[in-house]
Amino acid sequence: MNENSLDPSQPCREPTREELTRRLFLGKISLGLAGVGAAIVTLPVIGFIFAPLFRREPGVWRTVGAAGDFKIGETSAVVFLDASPLPWAGMTAKTAAWLRRTSDQEFIAFAINCSHLGCPVRWQPSARLFMCPCHGGVYYEDGSVAAGPPPSPLARYPVRVQGGKVQIQTRPIEIQRA
Ligand code: FES
Repeated sequence: MNENSLDPSQPCREPTREELTRRLFLGKISLGLAGVGAAIVTLPVIGFIFAPLFRREPGVWRTVGAAGDFKIGETSAVVFLDASPLPWAGMTAKTAAWLRRTSDQEFIAFAINCSHLGCPVRWQPSARLFMCPCHGGVYYEDGSVAAGPPPSPLARYPVRVQGGKVQIQTRPIEIQRA
């Protein structure tokens, strides 16, 4: 039996100064590695949770057609590129809005996404209501909630007419988070 093996009949000996120093060093290395591991795991999670608080998407004006294409009093669907399309987004970089011409130079643009969980709402001209197919949300023609689970009116985009073109300012739309 060598001197390092455990022999129950032998009394415990005190660790040498050199052994204590080595243990202390290895303990510090282990703590450091554990800290690095914890940081690798937790930092992306913290970043994911808090990033939306600091992200400020710039508003971008998108042309959706000539003003003359829209009749006063009518509500039509328009499709446009979102505020910050990613190069690989393809079709998903497109979004839509319900655009209503209210006078010669005035338009209202409603977000197409329901304020409940984001399903695309449909305009029903005969009922003059926006209907959500997902959970039965209903909005009046001014976008305010008429029935169902939506917690808030349909969001609106700023609209302007420039050089005879109708432009919508795109930005991320707030929807309720379940
Ligand atoms: S997503 Fe429209 S009512 Fe739920």
